[in-house]
Amino acid sequence: STEQTLILVKPDGVARGLTGEILRRVEAKGYTISGLRMLTPSRELLAAHYEEHEGKPFYEPLIEFMSSGPVVAVRAEGERVIEGFRSIAGATDPTVAAPGTIRGDLGRDWGLAVQQNLVHGSDSTLSAERELGLWFA
Ligand code: CMP
Repeated sequence: STEQTLILVKPDGVARGLTGEILRRVEAKGYTISGLRMLTPSRELLAAHYEEHEGKPFYEPLIEFMSSGPVVAVRAEGERVIEGFRSIAGATDPTVAAPGTIRGDLGRDWGLAVQQNLVHGSDSTLSAERELGLWFA
């Protein structure tokens, strides 16, 4: 059914000038962009967004990285967009992400404590609702 999801172009994607290329792929797939914001997220917003990762080894580096510069937050809509965006984003680790995906084509492993993997996409209807409420309050 028609869904909404939260997509983030992370600081590495914005800094590398890949925002347009990433949004192009979302629109080319047929999804509609219905919300768009650029902001440097606060640690408070990121702590709420990443609450399920608290305590993991990559948590602190993740918050540091995500608050290091501007991100582009996108509300995208479409039939099964949650699963569909995760499919075009590719696997979390850019080294193994399939060619043809955003991370597979454009992502780099920088050998850091956190995967700077260009994009985030909500992983379920529940997290999409929760995350859209945080980023598009
Ligand atoms: P994201 O979809 O934003 O959700 C959590 C983020 O943590 C993930 O993308 C990656 O940027 C990062 N991440 C997840 N798993 C690992 C891992 N095993 N090692 C390093 N970073 C990770």
